[in-house]
Formats: sequence, C-alpha cells, structure tokens
Amino acid sequence: MPKVLIATEKPFAAEAAAKIKAELETAKYEYSFLESYTDVGDFHKAVADAEALIIRSDKVDEAVLNAAPKLKIVVRAGAGYDNVDLKSATAHDVVVMNTPGQNSNAVAELAIGMMIYMARGKFNGKSGTELAGKKLVLYGYGYIARLVARMARGIGMEVYAYDPYIASEVMSKEQVKPLSKVEDIFKTGDFVSLHIPANSETKKSINWDLLSLLPNGAMLINTARKEVVDEESLLKAFGEKKGFRYVSDVAPDNLATINELYADRIYCTPKKMGAQTEEANTNAGIAAAKQIISFFEKGDKTFKVN
Ligand code: 3PG
Repeated sequence: MPKVLIATEKPFAAEAAAKIKAELETAKYEYSFLESYTDVGDFHKAVADAEALIIRSDKVDEAVLNAAPKLKIVVRAGAGYDNVDLKSATAHDVVVMNTPGQNSNAVAELAIGMMIYMARGKFNGKSGTELAGKKLVLYGYGYIARLVARMARGIGMEVYAYDPYIASEVMSKEQVKPLSKVEDIFKTGDFVSLHIPANSETKKSINWDLLSLLPNGAMLINTARKEVVDEESLLKAFGEKKGFRYVSDVAPDNLATINELYADRIYCTPKKMGAQTEEANTNAGIAAAKQIISFFEKGDKTFKVN
C-alpha cells in the first residue's frame, strides 16, 4: 500500500492530524509524520521511501525531489504552491496538487481581523476609525477574496475588486463593483487587500508606481505573500503617504527599519497565521489525504497544478 509522509515544519492542529490519520488508516495506507523539523536533512531522510507527500509551506525543491525516488504525488494542503518547484517535480514525474478553497475562511477572517485591529490603533485606548462606509478593494477575486467581500459587506463596507481572470458579472452578482485597471485598485481603496499568488509576474509588483496612487490614510492588507510587495516602495509609502498603514501575515524583510520610524502604523504576524485554525487545518488536511487516495485508487488528477 502507498506510503504517505506528512511533513509539516508548522504542524497541523492535533485534531486535524488525527483526522488525516483516520482517513489514511481507513484506506489502509501507511503513513508517518515529520513535524516541527528544523533540519532539512531530516526531511530528506523521511521522504526517502515516501510515494506521497503532504506539506504546508514546506519547501519542495530539487534536493527534496532527488531524495525521494519513489515519490509520485505532492499535495500542498493549502492554496499557494510557490514553495514547490513545479518544473523539477514535472521532470521527476511527480504530480503536484493544492487543495483550493479549503483554508480560505481562516485567511479571510484574519484579513478582516487585522483591518479592525489596525483601524482601532492596535487597541491602544485612543479613538480609532470604523470600517463601515469605507471603500475596500480586493486585488484578486479568488476563494479568499470572495469571503472577505462577504464579510466586509456585512460590516457595511463598499467593496470593489480587480481580477483579470474573473468575469466582472461574477463580482456584480455578489454586489462587488468590478474595476478594470490595476491602477484603479490603488486610486479607489481606503483599504486595499491583496489576494494574488506569488509568481514571476507578481513578485515585487506592488511598487511605488501603484502605492503612490493610494489616498492618504489608506491601509494595505497582505494575507497573500510578502514577496509580492516591493519593500523599498513600502518604506517610501510610510514616509510619503500621510497616515499610510500596513498589516501583513508575515513581516517584510525591512520590518526593523520600518519599525524604527513607523511602528504604530505597521502590524505583522510573528509567524504565518492565515491558515492557522483547527478548521482550516482539518479541511485542507483531509482534502489532501482524500486527493492522494483518489489519485492512487482512480488515477484522479483533479487539482493538479503542474
Ligand atoms: C496557503 O497558501 O494556503 C496559505 O498561505 C497557508 O499556508 P500554511 O499552510 O503554511 O499556513
């Protein structure tokens, strides 16, 4: 029976791990867990006899693939697969999948939570501002953005979105106003929330050309990837845009520099927290286990991304 390795530097919640085990045991698959590892060498050793691999943000590069001669499938339990070398996986004849939508609610709730936290001055006891009546623009309109839109509309925000890959009718149906140009995102938003993947097109794409268009007092919310924001431009935005604020799930590399001058206008989670809920771990973990079983039993390649 296929052997599955669950390698998570940031472990799943205990409840989620138990459900993944139950899923694999029912299918009579062998499995082992490698959690909280600090040495990538341990990952290389553990993957040596695995035919299937479940990961989170764990890096699967050429070295991991070389260390895994029996590997047939990698499932990233989550949405973004920028941590997997797709080219190398294809060259090794390894199928890569993600589990789209499974952890979206957790990320959407974090985006809203961070917006409120910062709008209220990090709960410092002084008067802050409300989200109701403000304009929120979503850059990208995938699973997470759609949930953020629904929550924000419930709060009373005016919601806009830009996504060249999604028909504007989909947005209009959900009472979200479609925008037709990237520049309009930044011209329009009191709050701009990023929901784009990190790839060669998007890395460092949130640059000064765009940030300079933000109205004074705007807030940028990043629950996507830190790499999509150009950090020099981010620093400049703090200096040149009155009241500019930034909340991000994982700090930029220049956080210390920003903190020296603008600590009250930035908040970053200490570790990536977007999908850190029992529910998200359970949904994504079970989906990953089921996808692996379906792949081996039926040749099902739904959600293949390479
Ligand atoms: C994702 O892409 O699914 C999220 O960023 C969550 O990543 P994580 O599994 O490392 O928390």
